[in-house]
Amino acid sequence: MIKKCLFPAAGYGTRFLPATKSMPKEMMPIVNKPLIEFGVDEALEAGMSDICIVTGRGKHSLMDHFDINYELEHQISGTVKEKKLKDIRLIMDKASFTFIRQREMKGLGHAILTGEKLIGDEAFAVVLADDLCVKDGAEQGVLSQMVALYDKYKCSIVAVESVPENETHKYGIVQGTRIDDNLYRVENMVEKPEPGTAPSNMAIIGRYILTPDIFEILKNTQPGKAGEIQITDALLEQAKKGRVLAYKFKGKRFDCGSIPGFIEATNYVYENVYQE
Ligand code: UTP
Repeated sequence: MIKKCLFPAAGYGTRFLPATKSMPKEMMPIVNKPLIEFGVDEALEAGMSDICIVTGRGKHSLMDHFDINYELEHQISGTVKEKKLKDIRLIMDKASFTFIRQREMKGLGHAILTGEKLIGDEAFAVVLADDLCVKDGAEQGVLSQMVALYDKYKCSIVAVESVPENETHKYGIVQGTRIDDNLYRVENMVEKPEPGTAPSNMAIIGRYILTPDIFEILKNTQPGKAGEIQITDALLEQAKKGRVLAYKFKGKRFDCGSIPGFIEATNYVYENVYQE
């Protein structure tokens, strides 16, 4: 059983400046719900109730969001507005939240390594909340689909999707051998390849299941692209030592770390998900 889900949320979110000067990117709302709350919903659906968040300076609102606001709740208690807090109250009943601070922003791999103290020696999921995933007709969320695969294969799994060739330079790209429908054994992985050099168009998106040996590998991973400790480098090492799978998930993903993706997600959620 995978119980823990790690949310690296310490990045600067520079693509959304000035909004992210004092507000975490993960708190930006898609219609009326912060990005991170969508991710927590997906984790809970997949049976993960230990939510571990890696934060950084200026990210207090992430903690406040998953806590009681006595004054506000007292103020709207008994009014029609109270129902607007129903979902977040349910989350708080079902999940526990722990936080750890990444003091220096040394990349996603480093953020995941910072989470080791919260995770310990067990397999866990990682969600990058700025990748918003919706079912869009699929039976289950992406994390639930990945947990089912983990139960069978017991190894690290990354979620991938096909992207147009002129976008491969924005992603970690996987090259693999097909072992089942939508499932590949990872042979190679490159972080943000130069245009025209990508080994495939299978791009890693912000959903991972990782086995805990990844922490030892990360401790020995040298800074790579952009001087940051890259999770793709550590995963490639893990793939060489054992097995890592890449899974083409069912559903739809929005890159809410970019402005066009954020707008697209807002329109989609307003039209298909949001209920007044
Ligand atoms: P991004 O590459 O999207 O970086 O990080 P960013 O800082 O959030 O956004 P931009 O590019 O400046 O606009 C991917 C994920 O990894 C986390 C981010 O919070 C995001 O969820 N991250 C990244 C960390 O937690 N720590 C880091 O040092 C780097």
